[in-house]
Amino acid sequence: GEYAGLGEVQGKKVLVRSDLNVPLDGQRITDDGRIRASVPTIQALADAGARVVVTAHLGRPKGEPDEKYSLQPVAVRLGELLGQDVAFATDTVGQSARATVEALADGQVALLENVRFNAGETSKDEGERGAFADQLAELADAFVSDGFGVVHRKQASVYDVAQRLPHAMGGLVSAELEVMRRLTEDPERPYVVVLGGSKVSDKLGVIDSLLGKADTLLIGGGMVFTFLRAQGLGVGKSLLEEDQVETCREYLQRAQDTGKTIVLPTDIVVDTAFPSGDREPQPQVVAADAIPDDALGLDIGPESAQAFAEQVRGARTVFWNGPMGVFETPAFAEGTRAVAEALTQVDGLSVVGGGDSAAAVRTLGFDDDAFGHISTGGGASLEYLEGKTLPGIDVLED
Ligand code: 3PG
Repeated sequence: GEYAGLGEVQGKKVLVRSDLNVPLDGQRITDDGRIRASVPTIQALADAGARVVVTAHLGRPKGEPDEKYSLQPVAVRLGELLGQDVAFATDTVGQSARATVEALADGQVALLENVRFNAGETSKDEGERGAFADQLAELADAFVSDGFGVVHRKQASVYDVAQRLPHAMGGLVSAELEVMRRLTEDPERPYVVVLGGSKVSDKLGVIDSLLGKADTLLIGGGMVFTFLRAQGLGVGKSLLEEDQVETCREYLQRAQDTGKTIVLPTDIVVDTAFPSGDREPQPQVVAADAIPDDALGLDIGPESAQAFAEQVRGARTVFWNGPMGVFETPAFAEGTRAVAEALTQVDGLSVVGGGDSAAAVRTLGFDDDAFGHISTGGGASLEYLEGKTLPGIDVLED
């Protein structure tokens, strides 16, 4: 059997970098979307007779083994979805990994323990990363890059290993890139982008670049309070990145000067404390220009939710990244739900970008099929839209 770009893989050991970074509650996987998205490539290689060695990360351990970031539960779920046992190696390139790979028969699949248990994986030092990539490369005859969510990371299992083995782009990465191209090359208009999430500093680059490309930017989530402050409003105890206020002010001004629209919420759902298990939420809707000093904003209000939904429904191209509020608590989930609902009604291309946003729509009970595309990449899709070079893609094209 053949796999695109690699030729004959029957009997060969193929290392696959997948993004299996799923949310966990203890040992329980709360959203297996990224595992499901990774299955087709692994299945295709196994069907072609390859000995499939999957490598992936979970969370951000500090370069050494840390039990709470073990991929063991992921190996179990991956096996269920593939319909065959997945052998689990308790290290990444050590004795267990070597023995596990050697024991594979054609068509069988192994998962290596969290690649970030090794300091070389994320090292900024090329030599250190390279030494670790050498060890990874020794395990296999070829490499398939299929972790779209990590292609923006210059890390050993994403970047350096591709320089050491015959390599190919996996089916998930090419499908994701195809959607990203449709968002950037001549998108159908109106093109509306919805941005949320807690930190505006994570989104500055993408806002900067989208102000040139999209027609309308809708902003919600924790990051909105830095924009409200930039308009001179008080935000009470809400999240605020003081050092970004000036940049937000510039963006608002640039939008005005260039005929683009940045839409901010006109009402906010507030409470006097962040939701916690200890007390019942006491949500209250206030005008965005009247947030009380002792309150913090936790969702966009109903009037804003309706306005955002209308903009989304009227678009021909929509990209959405980041929840509108603290959707994990039902009292603060309505803004996110309204935006998600509107995305399902778009006559055109609707894209949900990112692990968190994807988990949010599933948590709220939406079906994957209701959207044009649910991307597995958060940071990766934002960096693509920013026009940045993605090391994990670049290295494949050399
Ligand atoms: C993600 O969750 O966006 C990817 O898995 C990348 O994870 P990272 O931001 O820890 O590199």
